Amino acid sequence: MQEVKIGILGFGTVGAGVVEGFQKNGELITQRTGIRPVLAKIADLDIESDRGVVIDPGILTTDALSVIDDPEIDVIVELIGGTTLAKDFVQRALKNGKQVITANKALLAEYGEEIYRYAQDQGVGIYYEAAVGGGIPVLRSQRAGLIGNQIESIYGILNGTCNYILTRMELERLPFDEILSDAQRLGYAETPPDLDIDGIDTAHKAVILASMAYGAPVPMEACKTSGIRGLSNQEIVNAEDLNYRIKLLAIIKDHDGEIELSVEPTLVPKDHMIASVSDAFNAVFVRGDIVDDTMYYGRGAGSLPTGSAVIGDIMEAASDRFNHAGAPVSVNMMLQKDALTYSPSHKIVKRYYLRISLFDKPGSLGKVMEIMGNHHISIASVVQNERFKGGYAPVIILTHKVKDSNFIAALKDIKALDVSGAEPVALRIEDFE
Ligand code: HSE
Repeated sequence: MQEVKIGILGFGTVGAGVVEGFQKNGELITQRTGIRPVLAKIADLDIESDRGVVIDPGILTTDALSVIDDPEIDVIVELIGGTTLAKDFVQRALKNGKQVITANKALLAEYGEEIYRYAQDQGVGIYYEAAVGGGIPVLRSQRAGLIGNQIESIYGILNGTCNYILTRMELERLPFDEILSDAQRLGYAETPPDLDIDGIDTAHKAVILASMAYGAPVPMEACKTSGIRGLSNQEIVNAEDLNYRIKLLAIIKDHDGEIELSVEPTLVPKDHMIASVSDAFNAVFVRGDIVDDTMYYGRGAGSLPTGSAVIGDIMEAASDRFNHAGAPVSVNMMLQKDALTYSPSHKIVKRYYLRISLFDKPGSLGKVMEIMGNHHISIASVVQNERFKGGYAPVIILTHKVKDSNFIAALKDIKALDVSGAEPVALRIEDFE
C-alpha cells in the first residue's frame, strides 16, 4: 500500500477540518484511492490550544521549516494565509519537490503567475480547490468534467459573509453594521472584514476562476470591483418590489476573446436559481459551449467543508506524485497564454438600476430623461412612488441594455445637474442571457 505523507502549515479552523476529515473517512479514502494518507507533521506557532480534534502531540511543531524541509514528506498543505510568509513557504516547498496544496486565494490572486510558473519549472503540482468556493469542487469541475468546453460565462456568489448580510437585510430589514457583527461572531468574515464587504475576497476568487477558464494569469486590476459597504435597505426593498434580489456577484464573460470581469452588487431576477442562494452559501454558475448551463452550490467556508476541498487536493496530488505526472492540469491550465485581453467599457453592454432622490420640482425628471436620451440610453421602466418623505421624490429607473461607457457618462451628467438631494445609486442588473 502506498502512503502519502502530509505536512500541514497552520493548524487553524481549516487545518482542524482536514484532520477531522481524515480521521472520519481515512479508511474509505484509502480503499477508494489505494493510497493511505498519513498526517506526518503539523506546524503552528500555537501548539497548545485545543482544536477539537484528538491528535498525537508528537506530530506538532512550531518550526514550519522542519516540515517543509523534511525529505519524508510528500505533500505540503499551506493554511497560514497572508501573502508574505505563505509565499516563501510555498516556493520553498515547491523547490524541495513537494506537491503543494493551498487555500490561499489572496496569494494566488496576487502572485499566482510567479507561483504557477515556478511549479511548472520544478515539474511539481500546486492545487488550490479550497481557495474558491470553500467545499464546492468548482475548479475541479472546470479542469475535469468541463475540460472539453470553451467557457462562455461564469457567475459566482463567492463570499459567504456578504451573502449572509444581504440575505438578512432582505428578510429582516436590519441595518448592515448590525448583521456584519453577527457574521464576524459566526466566523464567516475575514480579519479585517473589509476584504469581504469591499468585494476584494470575491475578486480574489473571480481572478482564479477567470485564469483557469481562459488560460492566463489575471491581474487583480483587471477585475472592476465594488462591494456592499454602504448598500442601503432602500435598494434591497426596491429590488424586491421589482422582482429582483441583490447579490454580490462575480461576473466573468468571454466576448469573442475579450474578457469582461467584475465584482459588484447586482440585481438578479428572483426566479433565477442563483437568487435562491441564501445565507453564507456560495454558488457558481458556469456556461460552457458544449455542456450549456451548470451550477455548483455549497458551503463557501468553514472547517469541514474547506477541509473536504483540501483532502480532495491532497489525494489528487498524491496520485499525481506516484504516477509521476509532472506539472498537473491545475498548473498548465493557468499558463496557456501570457496574458488575456479585457473588454473596454465601450464594448460592455449591461442593464442598470438607478435611484435618484429628485427635488419634487417641475422639469427635474425631464432633465434626467433628456440626459439619458442624449447618451442613447433606453429606459425599461420608471417608478416614482407618491408617498415619499423629506421633500425628495425617489425615482427608480431600470434601463434596457446600454453601453457601460454611455451609462457612466450619463451618470456623471446627472450628478452635475442641480436636481437631486443625494448621490444617485446605480447598480448592475444581470439577466443571464
Ligand atoms: N470570508 C470568506 C467568506 C471565507 O465570507 O466567504 C471564505 O473565503
